[in-house]
Amino acid sequence: MRPENVETAYRRWAPIYDRTFGAVTQTARRRAVAVLNERPGRVLEVGCGTGLALPFYAEGQRVTGIDFSADMLVKAKARVANHRLGAVEALLRMDARQLDFADASFDQVAAMHVLSVVPEPSRVLSEIVRVLRPGGRLVVSNHFRRERGAQALAERLLAPFSETVGWHSDFAFEAVAETPGLVVERRQRMPPLGAMTLAVLKRA
Ligand SMILES: C[S@@+](CC[C@H](N)C(=O)[O-])C[C@H]1O[C@@H](n2cnc3c(N)ncnc32)[C@H](O)[C@@H]1O
Repeated sequence: MRPENVETAYRRWAPIYDRTFGAVTQTARRRAVAVLNERPGRVLEVGCGTGLALPFYAEGQRVTGIDFSADMLVKAKARVANHRLGAVEALLRMDARQLDFADASFDQVAAMHVLSVVPEPSRVLSEIVRVLRPGGRLVVSNHFRRERGAQALAERLLAPFSETVGWHSDFAFEAVAETPGLVVERRQRMPPLGAMTLAVLKRA
């Protein structure tokens, strides 16, 4: 998506996100954060949106969330204040294609339902690799393209409308798995109906 379209699309999504896409993907988010909680440390959540994942971080985590959409971030900030989420250190407006952090500053990065949304996902992934410390982990929750069946057909039919709906329905797992500097450690299907994938990748 083009950056200006991200702003527009997520201005429309912000008021309804938690009750729609956010609600049906909450199990996936909870499981991804459970994986992150295996290792306490500094976590960057890229494209944190309305902050639906933030309440799941365990004490001892030090979480920074970034997002391009001011409207989504307003919701995330309200959630942190209302629930007094001590694990969240900062929520910042930032473009994931150009992260304003030093090299190797995070132990883990979370990318939940964001890699198929961002403009230039390969640029975002190389920024993620840069800010991860060697041995650190990228935990991804996302829908990836299917090769066969009714879902694959639906994904292909939706693909031309990505700028309007706010994400690319035909995003391929290889776009993540083949990122230089990352090695896939785990990959499993998640709800709803196995449509989401949880992937853990290690910074080589
Ligand atoms: C589908 S939402 C996912 C939000 C959250 N991770 C979740 O699981 O609910 C995608 C988010 O990515 C953000 N986004 C899109 N492009 C971005 C960019 N270049 N930099 C940072 N955030 C971006 C959008 O603003 C939106 O909040």
